[in-house]
Amino acid sequence: MIITVTLNPALDKTARCDVLRPNALNRLRDVSIDAGGKGVNVSAMIRVLGGNSIATGFAGGGAGEELIAGLAGKGLEHDFVRIASVTRTNLKVINDAGNVTELNEPGPEITGEEFAALEKKLAAFGTKGNTFILSGSLPRGIKSDAYKKLCGTLRQNGAEVFLDADGEALELALDAGPDAVPCFLKPNRYELLKLFGIQDGSEITEAVLSPLCVKLLDKGVSLVCLSLGHEGALFVSREGIRRSPALPVTVKSTVGAGDSMVGALVYGFENGLPQEHCFALAMAASAGACTTEGTNPPSRFLVDELLQQVCVQKIS
Ligand SMILES: Nc1ncnc2c1ncn2[C@@H]1O[C@H](COP(=O)(O)OP(=O)(O)OP(=O)(O)O)[C@@H](O)[C@H]1O
Ligand SMILES: [Mg+2]
Repeated sequence: MIITVTLNPALDKTARCDVLRPNALNRLRDVSIDAGGKGVNVSAMIRVLGGNSIATGFAGGGAGEELIAGLAGKGLEHDFVRIASVTRTNLKVINDAGNVTELNEPGPEITGEEFAALEKKLAAFGTKGNTFILSGSLPRGIKSDAYKKLCGTLRQNGAEVFLDADGEALELALDAGPDAVPCFLKPNRYELLKLFGIQDGSEITEAVLSPLCVKLLDKGVSLVCLSLGHEGALFVSREGIRRSPALPVTVKSTVGAGDSMVGALVYGFENGLPQEHCFALAMAASAGACTTEGTNPPSRFLVDELLQQVCVQKIS
């Protein structure tokens, strides 16, 4: 069973405008509202590929109810902890040049009892053979070692954990020791460099990035999937380093491309597909996600079509 955990989900509002002007009235068009959050995007991708997952996390207030109704509308199984404060609404404005401006609310404040309720729920699911995907930012009220704590407990119970997080939450989770660190990571270029305190620049090539991923393996991580946007991805494990160039697609929105990548990888692992096939599926799914509006996943048909163009090359 796959369980996606979104501690800070959102109602995603997407809108278009010609040019976004600060200090002026901006008229939006094509406004749409969707159940969002990184784990929710992962669940949606898994669903498209024909798999199942349970989406969990925190939901509260009217926006929380809309979020849950949205999940049900997408055919996604869900089991959220209800909280007293209100789920956030995030606005993404896309201008005619295709640039995305994101306006994210801070989100609700989670109490100690609410976090304990989530821990209890996850512990009940957290048995051998299950895979948990912990993704996204931490809501207010939750300590930055939350992912470290959750990951440690789940791994102790024999479950596998995929962490897609950033900053201190990621840093702490990686210091938990080999038996408690996440099994899988999918940083993007920015997140990886931040983790090592390295300033980005033209000298930061694949030759610099690969050894950083290997350092994460030394901490006990089994696989690092480093996504590099339009430059493709690196897949780094003890079996070697593979690279795959991004597929040439007509991009509508790259938001959530990384989540589709995570969903496809986990779907592949869950179904026992060979590693190389999982990587190819991740490349096809993430490129496909770039062709859709907002965080919508691509169709299975498009993923299958793109799959034929994927090239995964072993570089060491
Ligand atoms: N312009 C693009 N063209 C083709 N594929 C792309 C493009 N941008 C992203 N991708 C695909 O999506 C993958 C993930 O992209 P990216 O590195 O932007 O993830 P991310 O920053 O984690 O995204 P998010 O967190 O919004 O889901 C890339 O490795 C690549 O396969
Ligand atoms: Mg990401």
